Amino acid sequence: MEVIICGSYDELSKLAAQAVAEVVRNKPNAVIGLATGSSPLGLYKELARMNKEDGLDFSQVTSFNLDEYVGIGPEHEQSYRRFMNENLFEGINIDIAKTNVPDGLADDYEGFCKAYEDKIAAAGGIDVQVLGIGSDGHIGFNEPGDSLASRTHTVTLTEGTIDDNTRFFQKKEDVPIYACTMGVGTVLDARKCVLVATGKGKAKPVAAMIEGPITSMCTASALQMHNDTQVFLDEEAAGALKFADYYRWIQENKPNAPK
Ligand code: F6R
Repeated sequence: MEVIICGSYDELSKLAAQAVAEVVRNKPNAVIGLATGSSPLGLYKELARMNKEDGLDFSQVTSFNLDEYVGIGPEHEQSYRRFMNENLFEGINIDIAKTNVPDGLADDYEGFCKAYEDKIAAAGGIDVQVLGIGSDGHIGFNEPGDSLASRTHTVTLTEGTIDDNTRFFQKKEDVPIYACTMGVGTVLDARKCVLVATGKGKAKPVAAMIEGPITSMCTASALQMHNDTQVFLDEEAAGALKFADYYRWIQENKPNAPK
């Protein structure tokens, strides 16, 4: 894992956006994996700016989102489809028909999850996956105990995740308890991962992900097995890292590193 500790949320968002943009520039028909939540909002804003001002072209890009709440349709205020439309897709020149978000209202989730996996494979696999991290160390909605080999599946959210996400709903009881998510195995198949985390609430899960053991108790720790993952952090999210000085040292000396 490459750990990049930034001075501010703005800086980490810009650097993470550059990493995603580089993939799209090198492969105009790239397949990008996307996350919702607060963490990637700055990254998405920067991608939209690059689309408008720097000519970053999304017209041939296909996207797959990590997850969606079960029981929530695309029109629902808190649906991840709506979140993506409002926070990214409407701000860039992506073809909306090429954007995929798991179906919150599928009749048959077993069939749906398999079809989602098949669609990712048919698109050629994910070139770059954007990720956030939950306070319990989840990526996607792969909660503690979820298999590190899992594929797209439904999951019961932990009470902690429901508490964290209550801020988006009127009350806790309105937060769905089930979700459909790409599995950890699906994420690990992405050619590159870009994870963003901000604020002191993320310090513990970030340290567990980077420096803890690989364990399904922190599904993000599986990224230690991925050979091209960049983690963009602000100082607060990096606050519990024991080797923070070493990660800074690596970045400072990167320009001269042997290739
Ligand atoms: C969302 C997702 C989740 C979030 C995580 C952090 O699609 O996959 O894993 O990335 O819950 O959420 P925020 O960024 O709101 O703290």
